[in-house]
Amino acid sequence: MASRPTVLVARAIPPETLARLRLHFEVEDNPADTICTPAQLIERLQGKAGAFTTGSERIDAELLAACPQLRVVANMAVGYNNFDVPACSAAGVLCTNTPDVLTETTADFGFALMMATARRMAESEHFLRRGEWTKWAYDMFTGSDVHGATLGSLGMGRIGQAIARRGALGFGMRVIYHNRTRLTPQQESPLGARYVDKATLLREADHLVLVLPYSAASHHTIGAGELAQMKPTATLTNVARGGIVDDAALATALRERRIAAAGLDVFEGEPRVHPDLLALPNVVLTPHIASATVATRRAMAELAADNLIAALTGGTPPTPVNPEVLARP
Ligand code: 8YV
Repeated sequence: MASRPTVLVARAIPPETLARLRLHFEVEDNPADTICTPAQLIERLQGKAGAFTTGSERIDAELLAACPQLRVVANMAVGYNNFDVPACSAAGVLCTNTPDVLTETTADFGFALMMATARRMAESEHFLRRGEWTKWAYDMFTGSDVHGATLGSLGMGRIGQAIARRGALGFGMRVIYHNRTRLTPQQESPLGARYVDKATLLREADHLVLVLPYSAASHHTIGAGELAQMKPTATLTNVARGGIVDDAALATALRERRIAAAGLDVFEGEPRVHPDLLALPNVVLTPHIASATVATRRAMAELAADNLIAALTGGTPPTPVNPEVLARP
């Protein structure tokens, strides 16, 4: 009998998914959920045909050169900026991700974070917990309305459209967006979405939401210059990736009230958070949990497993990132 492929499951994952992987593979897992250094990851990948990864494992040319047996890396995430995809393709390594299964869950969270930011929920909760709530006041924690306001979406993929749908259909928001590619009229019209250039988006949005992938091209897409173009009453919500926003510049803009508030689920260099952000009252901070519901994390793990199993057992991986690798003989 041919020996079974060996795979690395780089982080702790739902036990039922791990059990399923063990039906197909020799599995080295990580029940302690430690994060490997790049050198440790290379060491653990020796002799492995596949890797089940999350955003914390970087797969780059150096690692690929040191792990010549590797054939597939299956990310439990829709974003895959932890993969050097051209280097993987050049090495014949298939990359997969987990789109669709997290879209609505992430949109729920993005919308909630925008609302919490606009209505100052974290700041007012901290005030209450500190015992400072002694009387009602007409201007106590007055924020800005979400209903009827202008929702600006930078990026307009699946998650951006799902947030825009909530805004347009649930909250009567006017939707404007900027994206690499414009939606079709069939996609725009139910949302009443208007395609605008980036400067118009920054100038007109009451609530700007970031939902674009991270790449070298999107690094610091929002910095001091962009923040200066926004309304002083505007909010900024980031559920995309750290690095899209210049966190130091954002902290300065928030401190100087050049924008009203921000809601951040992702950070440059996370899990470290810029100390200037931690010190500010007008920012809602969450630890990269936009896709974190029990059902969605299970679905993400299962889809990553589907990809890994198909890729190494002669099947068709459902969500490849670089399908050109599959076409090669
Ligand atoms: C993940 C995410 O939890 O899917 C993504 O791109 O950002 C999150 O849903 C995170 O990347 C861990 O893999």
